[in-house]
Amino acid sequence: MTLQFSLQSDAPETTDTPCAIVGVYENGTLSSAAARIDSASGGAIKRRIEAGDVSGKVGNTQVLFDLSGVTAKRVLAVGLGAEKSFDAARFKRACTEAARAVTKLTVKQAASWLSELNVPGRDSAWRVRTAALATDHVAYRYGATVKPAALSLEAIAFAGDSTAQAGLDQAAGIAEGVRHARELGNLPPNICTPKYLGEQAKAFAEAHEGVEAEVLEPEQMAELGMHSLLAVGRGSANPPRLVVLKWNGGKDGDKPYVLVGKGVTFDSGGISLKPGPGMEEMKFDMCGAAGMLGTFTAAVKMKLAVNLVCVVPSVENMPDGDSYRPSDVVTTMSGQTVEVLNTDAEGRLILCDALTYAQRFEPKALVDAATLTGACVIALGKHASAIMSKHDDLAEELLAAGEETLDRAWRMPLWDEYQSQLESGFADFANIGGKPAGAITAACFLSRFAEGQRWAHIDIAGTAWDDGRKGLATGRPVSLLSQWLIEQSAK
Ligand code: BES
Ligand code: MN
Ligand code: ZN
Repeated sequence: MTLQFSLQSDAPETTDTPCAIVGVYENGTLSSAAARIDSASGGAIKRRIEAGDVSGKVGNTQVLFDLSGVTAKRVLAVGLGAEKSFDAARFKRACTEAARAVTKLTVKQAASWLSELNVPGRDSAWRVRTAALATDHVAYRYGATVKPAALSLEAIAFAGDSTAQAGLDQAAGIAEGVRHARELGNLPPNICTPKYLGEQAKAFAEAHEGVEAEVLEPEQMAELGMHSLLAVGRGSANPPRLVVLKWNGGKDGDKPYVLVGKGVTFDSGGISLKPGPGMEEMKFDMCGAAGMLGTFTAAVKMKLAVNLVCVVPSVENMPDGDSYRPSDVVTTMSGQTVEVLNTDAEGRLILCDALTYAQRFEPKALVDAATLTGACVIALGKHASAIMSKHDDLAEELLAAGEETLDRAWRMPLWDEYQSQLESGFADFANIGGKPAGAITAACFLSRFAEGQRWAHIDIAGTAWDDGRKGLATGRPVSLLSQWLIEQSAK
């Protein structure tokens, strides 16, 4: 069951809820909702602050029970840090910590006044949307192959008037897209194969009016000349697919936005085999695909007035007697030849044919997302995705959408100077550019298949999943791209 969101405009001290959520700044400064509960209860919150049980430190949460004069059964006090420096990032953090605390309780319902807090530069729709998405993120449970962790929360109401309704509506659509992306990302690669991704796309199209799906099989890809994509998939018993989804929410004849996502359902490295430890993380190597399918889902759920195409090249990269090998020369769909110097640089070899294929839709803008390089993780870590584009306006749009949603990205250069690292003596160019600037040379490779297109590349290698044995797919960059599409639809 999915978490239900609603708006409410009741007084915090008289609302009948199992749990009222209010914010507390540092140094005993109460938010207005906390102040109302405090005075209705004869100073109960201030007494707890003085006793040291409640702290306004960021991320601190404390549950207070049975406050006399207050209708709510429990009050969850959430630390907000210093009021002076309170900002959008801290607001999201507070919402996340509040959701963690409330989902640890056994309550089915809660009401939050965090959405009333003053956040510089952000309006009530933004606050409600951000609070709802943060809560949904925490409430997500993976349950496809294991008994999911318990979750009792079913519904949460956020303080806000009708000006916040648009934010709540967007949150519902984006949350569904994020959940879809996370679920696909988390599935093991013996379930989530290229064929599975194709079947899911077809099922989605069946279930949603106005959505069309087409899934190309290896024979059709061979006819189109996608020999680079096919070469990567050749070592696997799970044959490749090219998944195409279309949503015509815009005007007839309007050019579509085209999203391309790397769908490597497992990346062993192939003949250039990866080391054993950590290889299991490479089930997440289809998170670009998941992110684009999730963004597509969000756009359809929001019924965005845009024409949208999602293209997902999907393969499994495995070592085998029939695998492609280092020093192979492959001919891409574009006609350009590539010398394969490392079979572990496979993402670009499937994306290149997908980017060539995407040009038939005459994109208004072409954006790809991929868990493309370990170098990107070294450069930016887990917090920012990398954006590379020769189109300053498109890069700026995407960066701004990342700031707006706090699904943030950082731009790296895509200067022609880097292109020479791809030189080859045996083909038009090679598939790797050496150690320096690995994220950029990967983008340089892709740029050769996006000539003349308004194109941007997003490397999500560091942001697509959380580290560790229990690390889950994050659903990034669904929020960023959904926001970008919302803005495009308003143009
Ligand atoms: N899927 C990996 C990139 C990756 C690695 C993402 C670690 C997230 C975490 C990609 O296919 C890959 O193996 N890239 C190589 C490229 C190299 C051979 C030029 C890499 O980054 O090491
Ligand atoms: Mn690889
Ligand atoms: Zn890969």
